[in-house]
Amino acid sequence: MAATMRPLLFDTIRYVESLNLSKKYSPEYENMTMFFDTKLPDILSGIGNGKSINVLGVGSGSGEMDLHIVLKIQAKYPDVPINNEVIEPSSEQLEIYKELLSNTLNLGNITFAWHQKTSSEYEHEVNGEKEIKKFDLIHMIQMIYFVKDVPATIEFFRSCLAPNGKLMIIVLSRTSGWNILFKKHGSRLPTSEMCFDLCSEDVTNVLDSMPVKYATYDLPTDLDITECFTEGNMNGELLLDQVTETCYFSKTAPPDLKELIMEDLKSPELSVKKNGKIFLNTDLEVIVVENQ
Ligand SMILES: C[S@@+](CC[C@H](N)C(=O)[O-])C[C@H]1O[C@@H](n2cnc3c(N)ncnc32)[C@H](O)[C@@H]1O
Repeated sequence: MAATMRPLLFDTIRYVESLNLSKKYSPEYENMTMFFDTKLPDILSGIGNGKSINVLGVGSGSGEMDLHIVLKIQAKYPDVPINNEVIEPSSEQLEIYKELLSNTLNLGNITFAWHQKTSSEYEHEVNGEKEIKKFDLIHMIQMIYFVKDVPATIEFFRSCLAPNGKLMIIVLSRTSGWNILFKKHGSRLPTSEMCFDLCSEDVTNVLDSMPVKYATYDLPTDLDITECFTEGNMNGELLLDQVTETCYFSKTAPPDLKELIMEDLKSPELSVKKNGKIFLNTDLEVIVVENQ
């Protein structure tokens, strides 16, 4: 009997392997880092009360982007102690994050606190407390697809902002090929219970129904998926798992679905062909919500 499709996230080892490989096939981190270097100092103007700065990363993964952000805050406010908290359910990712910190000099006045749990488990935990801890910056980078109730999650984390605090959500843009793929085929993929078909426009629609001010910024990027089209190529299969969020997609997907997805992945609506390679459009949008 053919194996059934299941979400990539359910196999934590393959998930981390596939996610880490996709980082090598995409300039996403370089592009994000450049965005943080050029735009973050202005975005973060006026956060904190001058005595301390509290930062919360939600779905931080292995922490590369979190670390870059917190070091930018440290550079902007060198005399202010920073408390950086992390919500991340995967113990494998947290281990990599902690190892990254152990190899980083100049953490100085930054302290870290860990919550090995999902965002809803965190919400449940703090809702039982007398006073909800407030943060000057809360960021969710490429994680909001994993929650079940997006409006409630945004509303909850907005309620965790300190005065002048900012909530930064980084999510696929509406025109990204990746979002088009999930909008089209997501209902047949095993993550249909989650929000993998979510894009920046869905987030801003939620925000438009709330009394909030927000700004958006484009963050173009792509993913080299050329090897996905070579049958039996191990890296190609791992990348395809990442693209479809499905564990062993090429072995477990129904043949008709696989054929449709492989066709769509190389269509000009989703990808660009350059120098004999195929690049899936994975453009992002950065949404910065202000606490008013
Ligand atoms: C695509 S990765 C992004 C990681 C990191 N933010 C980055 O940009 O490199 C998504 C992360 O969200 C985590 N995650 C999955 N479900 C989650 C949930 N319900 N709450 C919080 N984090 C979750 C995953 O373990 C994973 O590390």
